[in-house]
Amino acid sequence: MSATTARDLFVTGLRNAHAMERQAQELMERQSERSGDYPEVQAKLRQHLAETKTQQTRLEECLKACGESPSTLKDAALAFVANVAALGHAVAPDEIIKNALANNAFEHYEIAAYKSLLALAEPAGMSSQVAALRASLAEEEQMAAWADKSVATVTLAYLAKSRSAAA
Ligand SMILES: [Fe+2]
Repeated sequence: MSATTARDLFVTGLRNAHAMERQAQELMERQSERSGDYPEVQAKLRQHLAETKTQQTRLEECLKACGESPSTLKDAALAFVANVAALGHAVAPDEIIKNALANNAFEHYEIAAYKSLLALAEPAGMSSQVAALRASLAEEEQMAAWADKSVATVTLAYLAKSRSAAA
């Protein structure tokens, strides 16, 4: 692989990751507004929302370090939004469960995206960006671990609420 190709792939990956993080922000903003009945979920979403904004800034800094202007990010973001529009849009009684499943998938997708960027950083001649990408990866791994555990706890919490509502 030539250095140019690796750099191109890296820059494309950074743009896609930025679009992914913007979508993550939109999903979590919508979910955190609607998860007041589940305070632990809401608190975690708000915490990760703040991390997600920092991750966007890190990606913008990575793009600048590659000599790319972050101003051309908009189209990629919109394309990504269209691809994952189904995630997090469900308005159903068991919305909290559907969101737990979607968030689990989304966090693991984000982990994969950062691992791909980390694999490309050195061949792209951008080892200077490894620390920033690792910081975001660590945050995604923590959120994914929480999201994984929350599938069972949220499902049972929803069951308990449904039972008390029916009683
Ligand atoms: Fe995330």
